[in-house]
Amino acid sequence: MAHAANFPAADFPLANAQAGGTAPPAPQRATSRVGAAPSNAPPASRGDAKSLEPNTTITGGYKLIRLVGRGNFAKVWEATDARGERVAVKILHSSHPQANKRFLREIKVVRSLPANEHVVQYVDHGVLPDGSPFLVLEFVVGFTLGQLLSTGRRFSEQAACSLMLQLCRSFAGLHALGVTHGDIKPNNIMLAKSASAPSLPAPNKAGKEVIHLAQVERSSLRIKLLDFGLVRDAQGLLKLLEQHEMLPGKDFAEELDVGMLAGTPEYIAPEQLIDARREEHEPALTDTPSDVFGLGVVFYQLITGVVPWPFEPDSRDPEAYRHSIKEYLGRRASGERPECPPGTSQALWSIIARSLDPDPKKRQGDALALFRDIERFVEYGVGVPANLDTEETVLAYFDAASADVDKESAPVTAMKQLPAAPVVPESLAVSTRRDPSDLIPAAAPPGSRTMMMFIIVAACIALGVAVAFLF
Ligand SMILES: Nc1ncnc2c1ncn2[C@@H]1O[C@H](COP(=O)(O)OP(=O)(O)OP(=O)(O)O)[C@@H](O)[C@H]1O
Ligand SMILES: [Mg+2]
Repeated sequence: MAHAANFPAADFPLANAQAGGTAPPAPQRATSRVGAAPSNAPPASRGDAKSLEPNTTITGGYKLIRLVGRGNFAKVWEATDARGERVAVKILHSSHPQANKRFLREIKVVRSLPANEHVVQYVDHGVLPDGSPFLVLEFVVGFTLGQLLSTGRRFSEQAACSLMLQLCRSFAGLHALGVTHGDIKPNNIMLAKSASAPSLPAPNKAGKEVIHLAQVERSSLRIKLLDFGLVRDAQGLLKLLEQHEMLPGKDFAEELDVGMLAGTPEYIAPEQLIDARREEHEPALTDTPSDVFGLGVVFYQLITGVVPWPFEPDSRDPEAYRHSIKEYLGRRASGERPECPPGTSQALWSIIARSLDPDPKKRQGDALALFRDIERFVEYGVGVPANLDTEETVLAYFDAASADVDKESAPVTAMKQLPAAPVVPESLAVSTRRDPSDLIPAAAPPGSRTMMMFIIVAACIALGVAVAFLF
């Protein structure tokens, strides 16, 4: 099986989406991303993307107020628009063409997604005089999940489930389009808070406080998913829409991911490591179940406060860092399974363990499937049977189990407590995994355009249904 492959650590082609292929710097723990590269460039002149200061008014009339986030490729500012409304402005500061292409993809995806209360909303985009693109977003008042977890706090099972249900909802539009986020981690998940709601209690001295559902609800914390910088058109739909001029531009025309590993080490699924070594002609394994893996890592972290496979980089120098990351990724590629954390209920663990299965076919096929597993746990206290395939729905499993029970007049099992299966459109009940070659004919025969239009319209309807279903 693919996940059992154990590559020599030195074989990993580490992604390097920045200029020069130079070694990564000693990373900051919270933001270490595979492929991060040092900024060796000389200081930029005043007024360009690298040297912006508070109170600068940029193209579009956005006045920068304060820096609120700094990634490897972009900086995020709190700003006001021409009417004085608060917005966030994310400005690319890397001049590498790969980073630029990824930023344009981010803009396109954030713009194209249907409105979703759990995804940061697009406002505008533009280009600075020096050519640096920027993206304007709603400003989220609150804090990142990373900031909260760094205080040592964690969540009760019910509180973690409530946040995970919101987080899964944030993927409704993305996964229905067969697009992966590719960088799920607490620093890319914000917890928005209204000014009038009470704050979470401050961490106690030991910093080991468990946050309960009532506190999450009292503080009305709302998940907002951020950072679409590593989105991947895993099932080829966006490329298809671009080819047929139903989506402007050619941002997804080019394969950016061959021979690259992009993401944050602790959250990367084993198949992403395998894909990093594939040749262009080989099909990629990374798909919506790879995001489910990242969601599983976050789920584990919510209830334990730690990630299942901690990465402690050796940051003494770039060479030591490179060595430690290769060694770590080599271990991860062998497909280790985490143990059930002490004190976690078996039913909940069966759901988290399913999302962290090294084999993507054994995971929930997408965020919607994970949503359903969590919802069933919250409402009925049941988990999932081991070794379900992505293509096999839990509901189908439960239906079959109930039918057998009826036939044999055996005692009613916990599974029988489930309500009648809700009507789930077939396209949503199973993985949204599609083979792009099914959608894109090698040579379009005459008349195929009508069929193509049909497929595209069907995909758009599926997307609409997915969104309507979740909200
Ligand atoms: N809309 C927003 N409102 C408020 N804060 C934001 C917003 N968007 C981003 N931030 C802050 O900026 C930080 C960086 O944002 P983002 O993850 O989008 O940038 P990035 O350059 O892609 O980061 P990285 O490379 O580290 O993943 C976030 O962790 C968050 O603290
Ligand atoms: Mg980020």
